[in-house]
Amino acid sequence: MERIPESGTLKMFDMARRLERDGKKIYHFEVGQPDFPTPENVVNAGIEALKQGFTRYTPARGIPPLLDAIEGSYKSRGIDFDGSKNVIVTPGAKMALFQGFLGTIDTGDDVLLLAPAWPTYRVLIRMVNAKPVNVYTNGNYTLDEEYLKQKISRTVSALVINSPNNPTGGLLKKADLKLIYDLAEDHDFVVFSDEIYESIVYDGFKQNSMLEIDKTMERTLVINGLSKSHAMTGWRIGYAIGNEETIDNMARIQQNTTSCAASFTQYAGAEAITGDQNDLDLMVWEYQKRRDLITGLFNDIEGLECLNPQGAFYVFPNFTEYGLSSETLAELFLKKVGICASPGRVFGKKYDGFLRFSYATPLEDIKEGIAKLAEFLPTIR
Ligand SMILES: Cc1ncc(COP(=O)(O)O)c(C=O)c1O
Repeated sequence: MERIPESGTLKMFDMARRLERDGKKIYHFEVGQPDFPTPENVVNAGIEALKQGFTRYTPARGIPPLLDAIEGSYKSRGIDFDGSKNVIVTPGAKMALFQGFLGTIDTGDDVLLLAPAWPTYRVLIRMVNAKPVNVYTNGNYTLDEEYLKQKISRTVSALVINSPNNPTGGLLKKADLKLIYDLAEDHDFVVFSDEIYESIVYDGFKQNSMLEIDKTMERTLVINGLSKSHAMTGWRIGYAIGNEETIDNMARIQQNTTSCAASFTQYAGAEAITGDQNDLDLMVWEYQKRRDLITGLFNDIEGLECLNPQGAFYVFPNFTEYGLSSETLAELFLKKVGICASPGRVFGKKYDGFLRFSYATPLEDIKEGIAKLAEFLPTIR
């Protein structure tokens, strides 16, 4: 248990809830989940599945209609695999990551993390008795080739990448993915590619899947899910795509732990992938409006730098000028102006002057909340 620290985001969330109970208005920028409802066609598919009696265990890897839907959605992007052999559906992407790490990484291995990195990776890596090692990127998740090469040692067995990235919203270029794949081949390590924000991209940017490079999936495990794309966090549908050996190992872990993802939510998941995507387009359009607003407001504040993200729903402004740790800043912002954001340090030690703001929050709250912050900041300079 000593390897599992308290979640930095949840700590802020609990503090915010206490303040809310005392009647204070809180602007929630800490939550990493869409504020939209699950699309109606998806909800109806879940209800219909329940009514039809799909309330029992399913095959450990998932129900064929969902595996086929996943296979089909990648085929339409020119990526071919066999849904019945190369995919496992899990209760959320977190579980896919955990099973993937457990089935692949040995005790004592080093696992590289392109940082800033979502803190759950570090916790899960520690839970399998391995050691997370940060490989810092520049700006909006831009790869530093030489630095990455320096970090590769003989004890490295895996590298975790996440594009679009949580917390910066940055995307890795296809050339960077190729470079990572070549290094993985030369140094014999596995790449975990968390692509859960793949469909939330802006300004015509395109997310490239690691599977476009590693077509045989020899050394790639892609992690994906419907939590973010289809506003389905509570339905718990994630999945992994990889070679047969890795997926077989994960299926054995799943058989003996969770058995399967929930039956009726898998039917809803198949509808989410194959059904009407109009709601998804509307959500991305709305996120883009919010991104434009929040980056604009932050960059109008003197002494603050906020890069424009190409995807996901986070910005990661730099408050280093104010000379305070990210935890102190987060607590101050919450107590003084009711702004709840996540301290940057949890994404990597180097980011102690940063905070992550999720803009999965209404436009009005962004306008009002950041205006209050802009008024407050000069008082701590
Ligand atoms: C990068 C990343 N991967 C995975 C997840 C987890 O997704 P799920 O809800 O499917 O477990 C999150 C959620 O915050 C995330 O930010």
